[in-house]
Formats: sequence, structure tokens, C-alpha cells
Amino acid sequence: MSWLVTGGAGYVGAHVVRAMAAAGERVVVLDDLSTGDPARLVAVPLVVGSVRDRGLVRRVLREHAVQGVVHLAGRAGAEESGADPLPYWTENVEGTVALLEGCRAKGVARVVLSSTAAAYPEADGTPRSPYGRTALAAEWAVRDGAAWGCAAVVLRCCEVAGAATPELGDRSPTGPLAPVFRAVDEGRRPVLHGDGHPTPDGSPVRDLVHVADVADAHLAAVRALTAGSPGGTHDVGRGEPSSDREVLRLVGEVTGADTEPEVVAARPGAPGRLAAADRTARELGFRARRDLRSVVASAWAAWRAQQPF
Ligand SMILES: NC(=O)c1ccc[n+]([C@@H]2O[C@H](COP(=O)([O-])OP(=O)(O)OC[C@H]3O[C@@H](n4cnc5c(N)ncnc54)[C@H](O)[C@@H]3O)[C@@H](O)[C@H]2O)c1
Repeated sequence: MSWLVTGGAGYVGAHVVRAMAAAGERVVVLDDLSTGDPARLVAVPLVVGSVRDRGLVRRVLREHAVQGVVHLAGRAGAEESGADPLPYWTENVEGTVALLEGCRAKGVARVVLSSTAAAYPEADGTPRSPYGRTALAAEWAVRDGAAWGCAAVVLRCCEVAGAATPELGDRSPTGPLAPVFRAVDEGRRPVLHGDGHPTPDGSPVRDLVHVADVADAHLAAVRALTAGSPGGTHDVGRGEPSSDREVLRLVGEVTGADTEPEVVAARPGAPGRLAAADRTARELGFRARRDLRSVVASAWAAWRAQQPF
């Protein structure tokens, strides 16, 4: 019996595959390689195709004797989704529905959904970006699987960064540390969006979590479902504020660059949300182990490995 990991050639997915394989789980990956890279996968079967291809999904579920699905295939750019929302609805919502139809048809009744803290509502009651709204819709499609006996764990991941090895790093130009790394490369001062926030050092805060910890959370969800858990929705993060000033200080230490920022106008909206990490630890048995320095240092090593110089 195998677990199907959709989007397993992507940044987060490849770490999930690595953690599951290391823990002795048999894994098969379905990925259309739209942003994924097969070089991230070692010794794991890869089926190239879309989760929206209903026939292909059924074939993979049957041929690999799939017992559960970890679903990471989709699009994950909040800003991009604002400019061009329809592909987000197609890939994230239609893709999830097509996958679930295959699961129901083949009696696969365990699903882990990799979601995002961007699915949390803002003050007006809705997630801020089309990306967050499609993630929320996908969450409900998965959770409503309870009607046909499907147990689901939804993981609302905070801002994911770092890499287990440099080759597995985030290739997205909009990753959480990309702006400061670009500034270091170009010899510019990084930008700090406001220093009058109601936070201990006045700079914005967010919950930056190491991707290897995020992978461990997915493994914990797989284990919970295998043990018969009915599932639930959990935050995945360190549960501690990473302030932008602290991140800049660490980037300075790791890179040797001067990262004293240029302070510009604050962005609209409150400083970031922190994961309810204690609840996740209690209910899912998962807690992030890597600290912010390890996030920054491994992200920088991966960034350097991807640069052409
Ligand atoms: N990176 C982050 O900061 C972050 C934060 C929170 C949540 N997440 C969640 O993690 C998941 C993966 O994000 P990522 O950062 O690894 O992105 P990514 O773009 O690196 O990975 C997505 C993967 O899915 C594949 N894919 C896309 N559409 C597909 C389809 N229709 N069929 C099959 N494969 C398809 C891509 O080729 C890629 O390999 C997303 O669900 C996202 O919501 C990511």
C-alpha cells in the first residue's frame, strides 16, 4: 500500500516525500511539473500528469494500491492570485474536487490537505487573497468528505522557508526571504515596511517555519490518519513571532552583509498571524523543532545554490 503525494516535485512536496520515505512510508508522486522539478525526487515513482485528469487519478490510485493522499498540488502565490485569480480556482478548487472524486470512486478515505494560513479570514470575514479563498474552498471540499466516510487532516501552514538540503530549496521568486536575499546579492539595503507596529521591536512579525518541520507535520498527519483519527484542522508554524528586524539581523550574520534596512511605509493590515502551535502539539503530536536561525541559514544556502554565479 502506498500514499499518493500530489505536487511531490514541488518545494514543500519534495520535503514531504523525503520525510515520508525516511519514515518507511511507500510513496508515489503525481505532479504535472508546472512548477515542480523531478530532480528533487530520489527513488520514488513519479507519475507526470494533473490531478484534474480524472482518468489518470483513478489509474494511479488503483495501480499503486493507494491507501491515502497527501495533497499539495496547486498554486501558492497570494500576490499572483490577485492579478490572475482564475488559474487558482481551476488548479486549487477544481483540482481538489477531481482528486476527491477519484478517492471516493476508489474507496481511498484518508486525505491530508496542505493548506495555508492565508485561508484565515481578515476583519471583513474573508481571506485576503484569491489564493486564500481558493485554499478555504478546497479545505471545505475535503472536510465535507466526512459525508462519504473520508477522514481528513487540513494543515494550515504559515510562511514556509529554509531547505533540508540546498537542492530542495524554494525556487519561487516570491518566497518569504527572497526580497532580502535579492537585496544582499545586489548590494542594496533591504526594505523594512514600517517600524511603528505594536510589536516588541516595532517591525512587522510573522510565523516563519522551516520546511523540514512542515514536512514532519504532514508525516504526523499521515500517522494520525493511519491510526484511525477522524482528522481535523491544524496550524503549522513555530508559534513564535519572527520579527522582520530579527530576520534581517540573522541574514546579516549568515551572509556577512550589512542588512541595516531602509524603513519605508507600513503595508496595510495588521502584523502577521502566529500558529496555534500548542493546540497542534496537543491534538496532532507535532511541534516545530528548528529555530529561526536554521530557517534563515538553510534558506540562504539554497538561494546561493540556485544563483548562476
Ligand atoms: N511555500 C509556502 O510558503 C507555503 C505556505 C503555506 C502553504 N503552502 C502550501 O503548500 C503547497 C505546495 O506549495 P509549494 O510552495 O511547494 O509550491 P510549488 O509550486 O513548489 O509546488 C506545487 C507543486 O504542485 C504541482 N502542480 C501544480 N498544479 C498541479 C496539478 N494540477 N496536478 C499535479 N501537480 C500540480 C507543481 O508542479 C509543483 O510541483 C500548496 O498547497 C500551498 O498552499 C505553501
